[in-house]
Amino acid sequence: TRTLTVLGIETSCDDTAAAVVRSDRTILASNVADQTALHAAFGGVVPEIAARAHTEKLDHAVEAALAASGHALKDLDAIAVTAGPGLIGGVLSGVMLAKGLSAASGVPLVGVNHLAGHALTPRLTDDLAFPYLVLLASGGHCQFLIAHGADRFERLGGTIDDAPGEAFDKTARLLGLPQPGGPSVEAEAAKGDPARFDFPRPLLNRPGCDMSFSGLKTAVLRERDKIVSDKGGLTRQDRSDLAAGFQAAVADVLAEKARRAISAYLDHAPEAPAIAVAGGVAANRTIRAALDRVAADGGLRFVAPPLQLCTDNAAMIAWAGIEALRDGYDTSEPVVARPRWPL
Ligand code: KG4
Ligand code: ZN
Repeated sequence: TRTLTVLGIETSCDDTAAAVVRSDRTILASNVADQTALHAAFGGVVPEIAARAHTEKLDHAVEAALAASGHALKDLDAIAVTAGPGLIGGVLSGVMLAKGLSAASGVPLVGVNHLAGHALTPRLTDDLAFPYLVLLASGGHCQFLIAHGADRFERLGGTIDDAPGEAFDKTARLLGLPQPGGPSVEAEAAKGDPARFDFPRPLLNRPGCDMSFSGLKTAVLRERDKIVSDKGGLTRQDRSDLAAGFQAAVADVLAEKARRAISAYLDHAPEAPAIAVAGGVAANRTIRAALDRVAADGGLRFVAPPLQLCTDNAAMIAWAGIEALRDGYDTSEPVVARPRWPL
């Protein structure tokens, strides 16, 4: 089959990203401009600010990716753009720019589901055959999927309330740590004792792969407030121990639910059983290690893409575009921006 070279564009949350990827798995260029500084004062992503920043920065991000790739737009096989799910203002600014580029250059347009982008990332970095099991855990999502094909995902279960990334972000706020919460809670937890606080493992006794993380954050809040009212404030060690206890609880829940997802997946008798992780939370080393152990116990290969491909980026969108094209995607279909778009 012919080698495809695709431009990817990602603007569905607070990262403005562009990348050029080849179907032989070479990432020719990939840049991600995060907006953390813009939203810092508000304690969370402000949709209007995000949309405006995407519109301001995307042109340049695309030009820089093309320049670094050594390709002119007109020589590419396709433009792949995140068409949802996500903050609609941001998604729209990406889709509008992509449509303009496509119309001006004649290069066909592929609308990509952001979640499919995450879920297919392990095939960009590894030789991984369908069907594989994937845990998609990010700031907005958490689900176990069996990837049967580029456009065929079977959902085994997911969070019934907060996503784990959201729980990390809220816990960071409770502990006075900077956003995004995942990396800062992880760094703090490295200095803490995960056994000092006995945090709940929600839904562990319930069968299936559904998860819950909002109670965990409430438990952190309760312990924090107890310490504050007893001692007047948190010490450095209190903060580290709370972070470590929280992170251990999230890792335990994901690992136990992964065990169940694995047994459902093995019913499909895959030839080369594998579990992959994707999404920002998959950057967490404690969570990776816990899943790695569960995978080894089940006789599965564990596939964890490099950290910068786990968090939002455009290389995964370009790659999902390549997968869609190989899968017979019809580029004459109009691309529509959607705030909600389940896999
Ligand atoms: O996939 P992503 O970049 O964006 C979407 O939500 O789609 O994921 C971002 C989320 C944030 O909630 C962030 O706190 C979390 O992933 N995250 C982490 C880590 N790095 C990022 N959570 C735990 N540990 C980390 N090291
Ligand atoms: Zn994401």
